[in-house]
Amino acid sequence: MRKLTSRMMTGLVLVLFYLTLLPFVAHGLGMVGIGLSQDAAGQSYLFSDRRDVGNAAMILHILTGMLLVTLVLLQLLRGLRSRFTRFHRMLGRLLVALALITGLAGMTYIPLRGTIGGPLMSAAFFLYGLCLFTAGLMVARMALVRDRAGHWAWGLRLFWLALGSWLYRLHYTIWYLLTGGLGSRPDFSGPFDLIQSFAFFVPYLLIAQIWIARRRSGHQGPLVTAP
Ligand code: HEM
Repeated sequence: MRKLTSRMMTGLVLVLFYLTLLPFVAHGLGMVGIGLSQDAAGQSYLFSDRRDVGNAAMILHILTGMLLVTLVLLQLLRGLRSRFTRFHRMLGRLLVALALITGLAGMTYIPLRGTIGGPLMSAAFFLYGLCLFTAGLMVARMALVRDRAGHWAWGLRLFWLALGSWLYRLHYTIWYLLTGGLGSRPDFSGPFDLIQSFAFFVPYLLIAQIWIARRRSGHQGPLVTAP
């Protein structure tokens, strides 16, 4: 009975997640289409008509970022992990590659074009990219040196960072539904926008860190389970 309830809960979380992700993915693909079109700069401030590295970095960034956020939840499913170990490993490698490319492309774009919200948002997004890139590298490194505890800890950080761009939109959606957009401005200079520049990844990393520390001190059972 407990197993059935847990399966139903997992199913519900997955359905809710993918339903909320759908408009975001549709938007992302739309932006890629715009980026590849003749009049990219006319249709979005993200692109310039020089069709240079900045445009290419943004298109690549959106494509790999979309794949990353779409696939990352599958990596946490216990059933898939234990029954299809090869799939888990292959997906893990793909997620690391996607995280590295997404982070790198974003960090290339920011110094070239900045962000709509100005220097603070640019700094926050750059930090986010750096965290994602580092987590991707560390997950791979921990797997290579067979440090299972380290691999688990960095995997957890990578998971929350990979969800970051979805969490960013989720925070905005909930806030607009609740307050009509209080403290948010179209140029992202409102107090809510400034807080949001960091609030979609820093608190989640802190909570993950507390969780990891509690596990390390033995509060939550063994750090890693048998495969
Ligand atoms: C994790 C998966 C990610 C996904 C799915 C994603 C997706 C997107 C999308 C769809 C846009 C276009 C937004 C729009 O239409 O206004 C965008 C913009 C942007 N992203 Fe990401 N992103 C991700 C991660 C990152 C990371 C790690 C960085 C930091 C290096 C980053 C930096 C940026 C920047 C600077 C912009 C332009 C912001 C602006 O001025 O409006 N993103 N991203």
